[in-house]
Formats: sequence, structure tokens, C-alpha cells
Amino acid sequence: MEAAARLNAVQNPVIPIMGELILQSPGTLSLGQGMVHWGPPPQALQAAREAIDDGDLHAYGPMAGDQALRDAVGRWLQHHHKLDLAGSAVLITTGSNMAFHAIAQVLCDPGDECILPVPYYFNHAMAIQLAGGVPVAVEAGVIPDPERLAAAITPRTRAIVTISPNNPSGAVFPRAVLEAINRLCADRGLLHISDEAYALFAHGDAAVWSPGQGSGSGAHTVTLGSLSKSYGMAGWRIGWAVVPERLLEAIAKVQDTIQICPPRLNQRAAAGALAAGAPWCQTRIQGLGQQRRQVLAALDQANAPWRLLAPPDGAFYALLQLDSPLSGDAAMERLIREHRVALVSGDSFGLRGCCLRLSYGMLQAVDLAEALDRLRHGLLALAGAGPA
Ligand SMILES: Cc1ncc(COP(=O)(O)O)c(C=O)c1O
Repeated sequence: MEAAARLNAVQNPVIPIMGELILQSPGTLSLGQGMVHWGPPPQALQAAREAIDDGDLHAYGPMAGDQALRDAVGRWLQHHHKLDLAGSAVLITTGSNMAFHAIAQVLCDPGDECILPVPYYFNHAMAIQLAGGVPVAVEAGVIPDPERLAAAITPRTRAIVTISPNNPSGAVFPRAVLEAINRLCADRGLLHISDEAYALFAHGDAAVWSPGQGSGSGAHTVTLGSLSKSYGMAGWRIGWAVVPERLLEAIAKVQDTIQICPPRLNQRAAAGALAAGAPWCQTRIQGLGQQRRQVLAALDQANAPWRLLAPPDGAFYALLQLDSPLSGDAAMERLIREHRVALVSGDSFGLRGCCLRLSYGMLQAVDLAEALDRLRHGLLALAGAGPA
């Protein structure tokens, strides 16, 4: 028995593909997966321990998450991101990827379109396809030009998705751009899905702005967030969605079917993490400034055959374009096999040409220096290479 034909349209997941290549190439240093080098705060682990002793977590919990965590996330969003939550509901999900999946299921009838500015996050495109929708990749600039997004709207368009700070470019979108996209969505009856997994990750002067801050924006805005990056809790799988209340009934159908409830022990750990406070995250995020400087210094070479596609002001990514006839996929494979350094292919983010995403969240000091050394050598070798 073969898998359903509609799965053929869904791209293969690049992270497991890269992981397999790394396994086959022992000693590879990874600038690939989007993770940080720290783990959760002690308060999160303590909350998990106490929750186990409570013995109170064996039953299913509420579909939208335990009320205490929903309230804590609501307070966090109002305090730190100044969101206007009037008319919106906060939902806890098994990672923010699941939040996006649920929204895609709720939005898309077969053939409905969602606009993804390129570069997009591959799991967004995949979730839309799994829902029967069509991801419409729009090349509107690394900082998307709202007018070019507007030109891509059709009668089938349901949503525009933005990610700021951005994966994979590291760009922080200016407030004026996000406001214009949000207004466009309101005017054209679309949903603005704002993925803010990296909301706390700003380096330098770039200020992060959330479209859900606009008064009344909750009626047409979905804000997604996550503990995976800021709190180093990727494996705990806790994220959230702020959604217009009118969508809750439909979302309940998806979430009840897929997860019944988010894992309750992990929700307790998440509440403990939030109690540790934003400064706990900010100290560690500021520490990434050192890695960022190391990356920029290593890539800053006269006449290099590569360039950065955006100033890496946010998240922990830098997006490179290499002068090479290779595809991003081929370059990823050859960097791992021949140079023992892993970056993620730009192909998976909808980019053309030889693009690679570098993540500096995981490696520190000596390992990072070694990885960057391998990368420079590898890029120089690949720049001269013919197609694989
Ligand atoms: C833009 C973006 N959204 C969501 C996620 C996934 O977050 P979570 O672990 O909360 O599912 C990632 C992970 O890399 C991401 O880059």
C-alpha cells in the first residue's frame, strides 16, 4: 500500500535529511538545526518534579491547555509583547508548529491559498499542503514589500504569513512593514498569521514589533509563540496561538482530534519557565551576541564568493548565498560529506540559487571557530565546483 498521492506534493522534511547525512559523516559540526545551546531554567524542572509528585496529571486536560498556563501566557503576551487580547483566545499547543498546523486545517478548503513571503519556513508550506491548501511563495524581498504581497492576493487567498525575527534570514521586519501587511489583511478579509517563535531574539538596535499590538487587530491576526527557543525547551513541545475567538470552535475540532490536550506535565514545566521571567532568557540571548560576532567576522572576507542575504539582526540565523551552480540541497550534502560542517539548504525555504542557512545557536567558542573554519574552506571549494 502506497501513501496517499497528495503527500507527493509535500516536500521532504529537510531537518531529518540533514540529520541522516550528519549521522553518516561522524565528526560533523552542526550549524544546521535551529536550537539554542541552553536548557530550561531550574524553575521549569522544579515545576515538573513537583507536578510528578502531585500525581494530578493522569487525566486528560482541557483541549486548549490548562487554564493556569493559558492565563500565564496571556499575561506574558500583554506584558512583554503588548498584545491587544480583546476578542482573542490563547491556546496552548504541542509546540508552535502544531499551532500553525491547526490554523492551516481551519483555514483551508481544498485549493485555498496562503501567501508565504520567500524565504518561508518549510513547515508552514508543508502544513498548508497537508491541509489541502496551496502555499503561494511570493518573492517580495527578504523584508517583504507589502505591495508585492498584495499583488499575489486572489479570490482564493485566506492568509498572509510573516515571521519576524525571521527564520531563515535573521531579519527583523520593520514595524511599518508589518503594520502595512496587517492592514492589508484587514482590508482584504484575510488572516495575518504572525509566527513569533523568536520574539525575544533581537540583536543590536532592531526592535521587534508584533502585529497583534495594533488595537482591534485580534479580529484578523493569529500570533504564534513558543518556549522552544527562548527557554531552550524545544524537546518539551510547548507553544501557543492567539486566535480570533470566532475560530475557536473550528480549532477545537482539529486539536481534540490531534492532541486531545497538550501534555500536562510539560505545561507545568512551561509555567515554571515563564515564572523564571524574560530576563532569564534575555541574558542568554545577549550571550549569543558573541557567536553572532564570530560568525560575521568569519564571513567578512574580501572578494568572498558568498554574501549575506539580510543583516542578521534577529533569531540566530544568517542566510548565505554562494556563487555556485550547485543547488542548495547539493551544497548542503557536500558540505557535510566533504567538509564535516552542516548548514540547512536554502531550497527548503523556497530560495533559488545556492543558498544555505547558518544557525549559530548551538555551538560555542572553540567548536564554533572550528565549524566556521570548515565552512569557509568548504564554501571556497564549492564556489568553484560544477553541478554534483
Ligand atoms: C519560524 C518557526 N516557527 C516555529 C518553529 C517550531 O517551533 P516549536 O518548537 O514551538 O514547534 C520553528 C522552529 O525552528 C521556527 O523556526
